[in-house]
Amino acid sequence: MRALVADGRGGVALREVDEPRPEPGEAVVAVHAVSLNPFEVRTLASASEGWRPGSDVAGVVVSPAADGSGSPEGAGVVALARGGGWAERAAVPTEHMALSPEGLDPARAATLPVAGLTALRALHAGGLMADHRVLVTGASGGVGRFAVQLAAHEGADVTAVVRRLELGGDLERLGAVRVVVGMPVEEEFDIILESIGGASLAAALGMVAPRGTVVSFGNSSKEPTTFDAGSFFSKSGARLYAFTLFPELERLGTGAHDLARLAALAAGGRLETSVDLETSWHDAATAIAALRERRVVGKAVLRIH
Ligand SMILES: NC(=O)c1ccc[n+]([C@@H]2O[C@H](COP(=O)([O-])OP(=O)(O)OC[C@H]3O[C@@H](n4cnc5c(N)ncnc54)[C@H](OP(=O)(O)O)[C@@H]3O)[C@@H](O)[C@H]2O)c1
Repeated sequence: MRALVADGRGGVALREVDEPRPEPGEAVVAVHAVSLNPFEVRTLASASEGWRPGSDVAGVVVSPAADGSGSPEGAGVVALARGGGWAERAAVPTEHMALSPEGLDPARAATLPVAGLTALRALHAGGLMADHRVLVTGASGGVGRFAVQLAAHEGADVTAVVRRLELGGDLERLGAVRVVVGMPVEEEFDIILESIGGASLAAALGMVAPRGTVVSFGNSSKEPTTFDAGSFFSKSGARLYAFTLFPELERLGTGAHDLARLAALAAGGRLETSVDLETSWHDAATAIAALRERRVVGKAVLRIH
């Protein structure tokens, strides 16, 4: 079968590779669409030739899991793979796989695993409740756009932080009560989803409400953080929560359930998947370049054919 593999020069090449060899708890899926994430694009930059990226997968089960778990042959599914997803076929753990509702385009379903699950689980890590004030940094990004919508569905008062104000109207339509450029340091929030790192994380630690939570899940700025300990510990009971998706899902065991929920919301028109760039996998270089140059607002998707 064919797959996109690292070419050893920072990009990808379409090559013949071995068929997937699934574990007993893994199904083999014929992949129809994948979405791209920052860590895949970042890792590719220095990956050895032959490395196989790909976590976000939507397609059809061609070989159900040997242990009987998951969906049967022919079922349309969306799944979080442990790599190797940018391929004609991929082995995916059924614990991170859900049926994709009829009518949900695979290109939209493929946006859900990493970005959707990160948004959902990070909000839960912060203990999301209806009366919470939630701040989302990187709100124009793939995770941020899902987080704004999911927090707003719950009834939270959502503030979206962006770098470009022209994205404001769009985020208000998705549920943000206000859109700001830069951190609104005079305010307090019960949950802060923080993915920029550097000065943004430092500001977040000073803006969290007593008993509130800063969920740190990224460092897009690639900057270290220096923060004023006094402005943090004076918020009695506030927490800094370190979030990484795979260990979080392994610990909670909610991957399939959460993915089914996200897919149902997307299919029902209640969760916008924000596909900003959709192209053939033969044109993966264009999508990778667009992500690296920060020209994608939301998600980039490749169709596998
Ligand atoms: N811990 C985990 O398990 C996990 C899971 C998923 C994602 N992540 C991380 O979370 C972050 C967001 O992921 P994503 O998929 O949403 O990425 P994305 O779609 O590329 O969005 C990145 C967001 O951050 C903003 N941004 C980027 N660099 C910035 C900077 N230097 N200063 C201020 N804003 C900046 C972007 O604004 P512009 O659009 O204006 O550039 C955009 O809003 C990434 O760092 C990713 O690696 C972690």
